[in-house]
Amino acid sequence: MRILVPGKNGQVGWELQTALAPLGTVIALDRSGMDLASPDSIRRAIRDAQPGIIVNAAGYTNVDQAESEPELAMQVNGIAPGIMAEEAKRLEAVFIHYSTDYVFDGGLERPYTEDDLPRPVNVYGRTKLAGERAIQTAGGHYLILRASWIYSARGPNFVLTILRLARARPELSVVADQTGSPTWARALAQATAALLRCQELIPRHSGIYHLAAAGHTSRHEFAGAIIREAQAISGIAEGWARVKAITSDQYPLPAARPLNLVTNRDKVKKVFGVELTHWSDQLRSCLKELDPTAQPAAAGAGR
Ligand SMILES: NC(=O)c1ccc[n+]([C@@H]2O[C@H](COP(=O)([O-])OP(=O)(O)OC[C@H]3O[C@@H](n4cnc5c(N)ncnc54)[C@H](OP(=O)(O)O)[C@@H]3O)[C@@H](O)[C@H]2O)c1
Repeated sequence: MRILVPGKNGQVGWELQTALAPLGTVIALDRSGMDLASPDSIRRAIRDAQPGIIVNAAGYTNVDQAESEPELAMQVNGIAPGIMAEEAKRLEAVFIHYSTDYVFDGGLERPYTEDDLPRPVNVYGRTKLAGERAIQTAGGHYLILRASWIYSARGPNFVLTILRLARARPELSVVADQTGSPTWARALAQATAALLRCQELIPRHSGIYHLAAAGHTSRHEFAGAIIREAQAISGIAEGWARVKAITSDQYPLPAARPLNLVTNRDKVKKVFGVELTHWSDQLRSCLKELDPTAQPAAAGAGR
């Protein structure tokens, strides 16, 4: 079985190459192998590879930059997934695509189910929602996996940014009114492999699934947990920043953020028996793999 993975250098794409290897021959592509901004490039890459499975890990993921590049973000997140789904259908291949809980406005007091009405508050969320709809319109055998706050040892991401700044500054101000479920890219990749091991279920159960680490936390609490874990792993107790709670209003960014994003993941557990571990366990496992005191200054801004 050939498994095509566009986005090979991204957080999830990188981890998928290892997680999917036991399932078949992984053909991982970067932008030069498949440019999601070019429908021709997408069709050509898929027709050349003739995959039985496509796992799309590529996407326009810079939430703030999307506000000033809405056309490109729509091409990559909104239009390209539909083309991939059409090509997958033509080949009778399974198509797996990652979407986001940013399709919601974050105003609900309870966890969002897959049946709740999406109402994105920024360009990124609108383009990802368009991608979901394009896949649904194309049909075929597909899973749309709505993930949440992804991080890995490869950045840029929130975890690496906090680790870097926590050693460089006495105090960090982090928003306390945004809630989510931080998810290690490796856990997401392994869950994707687990879903593909139940491949025979996918034709009957194509659709949208929420998939993220168990539990939820605020950005502020998450930053505190990152620093506590880093202290424990490094054995260095001194020289770390204090974490101060602020509100999103006090930290304006180009793109608005949904605030209370907790997703209900019962559906993926019920249909496929797949469930991720708690976010705090995933964070510990990720940090154990890197030197939490040695994050380069070029790690970049987090998402
Ligand atoms: N990060 C999060 O917090 C988060 C949360 C929920 C859902 N998701 C979704 O999960 C998926 C994977 O996220 P991630 O965090 O692994 O993303 P990532 O680390 O930003 O990687 C995205 C990849 O997409 C590639 N890409 C961007 N534009 C492209 C284009 N025009 N053609 C081909 N490739 C292109 C990038 O290539 P270059 O390396 O060349 O730039 C990069 O390798 C995305 O669909 C994202 O929307 C992410």
